[in-house]
Amino acid sequence: MKFLICLLALSFLNLMANSSRVSPHGLEHKQPKDFNIDIIKTVVVGQSGETDFKTVQAAIDSIPSGNNNWIKIHLKNGIYVEKIVIPIQKQKIIIQGNNPSEVIVQYNDAGQADSSGPIVVNAEYFVAINVTFKNSYNSRTSLVPHKEIKVAPSIVLMADKAWFYGCSFISVQDTLADFVGRHYFKNCYIEGAIDFIWGGGQSIYEKCVIYVKGVTKDESVKSGALMAGFITAQGRQSEQDTSGFVFKYCTIKGDGKAYLGRAYRDYSRVVFYATSMSNVIVPQGWDAWHYKGKEDKITFAEVNCTGEGANKQGRVEWDKNLSDRDIAPLVKTKTFISGDGWMTTLPSSLSSL
Ligand SMILES: *[C@@H]1O[C@H](CO)[C@@H](O)[C@H](O)[C@H]1NC(C)=O
Ligand SMILES: *[C@@H]1O[C@H](CO)[C@@H](O)[C@H](O)[C@H]1NC(C)=O
Ligand SMILES: *[C@@H]1O[C@H](CO)[C@@H](O)[C@H](O)[C@H]1NC(C)=O
Repeated sequence: MKFLICLLALSFLNLMANSSRVSPHGLEHKQPKDFNIDIIKTVVVGQSGETDFKTVQAAIDSIPSGNNNWIKIHLKNGIYVEKIVIPIQKQKIIIQGNNPSEVIVQYNDAGQADSSGPIVVNAEYFVAINVTFKNSYNSRTSLVPHKEIKVAPSIVLMADKAWFYGCSFISVQDTLADFVGRHYFKNCYIEGAIDFIWGGGQSIYEKCVIYVKGVTKDESVKSGALMAGFITAQGRQSEQDTSGFVFKYCTIKGDGKAYLGRAYRDYSRVVFYATSMSNVIVPQGWDAWHYKGKEDKITFAEVNCTGEGANKQGRVEWDKNLSDRDIAPLVKTKTFISGDGWMTTLPSSLSSL
């Protein structure tokens, strides 16, 4: 009963696993011969003054299907209340703001793990820089009563090869739907309470701030004790499945309580490396959820983390002790998410970030 909504999301992940639309991760992708690493065009979106478009979606609509050149959509400061869809045929889009606290793409919408919220990315080679993505559905109070929480993604990632810098992702449940494909996040801020980084993605989160939002057990915020949520719910499905979430040099803090993760599939894989953790992390650290008794298949590990929340006393005894040799290929961008070199084909202006 506790997490009925999560169960619904779980059945959805089952559907996803069988979907042919899902592009395989792996090394078979080949760059087209005319691959261009420069940004060939910038369009400006803003709600006032001289701009090319008033909405983000209008700017995306202007990009031709089959696009194979980097196009930047520059967002002027403002709050964009939109429900954006990036179609599968529109690759190489960069959405950029000057400052994530001034450029906010938001929508108030819940219930659908794959389509609620302000943006769904179906195209490969998606880049976002300095933009906040927010689902405002659950943000009524500072401490959210558990009963009112619904699945409300701030972004849904359905394609391989996405790259984020300086972005904020804000919601309470299922904030960052890192469904499928290889993704990189640097200097980002991710806020939520329940399963707020989840899915079958294969991603590195570097120098990100993870904010655990407080959720109360009862309807009454005043009398409610804090309920422990879950930062991650990763859905690796087999030994061959290359997916997993790796956090390196991150900071975990907040006003709530949370487990580092719970298993969303038999082979769930989550690694925290050199990450600072405040006392928001519960002593047990991890939860096997539906996979109790099969913990040996799960890879949950913490390597060289610091802070009160990283204290291993009280941890479940089945988390993995990874050696330096085990951990090295997981924490390196080149080996874990960019074996085919896709990250070196991003516009050169991004490499200095
Ligand atoms: C991103 O935003 C920060 C302010 O938060 C600013 O200092 C930085 O220059 C911005 N970077 C880019 C590439 O826009
Ligand atoms: C990992 O190491 C700790 C401390 O040395 C030990 O208590 C724990 O049982 C080990 N875990 C596994 C799965 O071997
Ligand atoms: C973790 O820290 C220990 C002690 O400082 C060090 O020997 C080890 O190489 C570190 N592991 C990694 C993977 O950085």
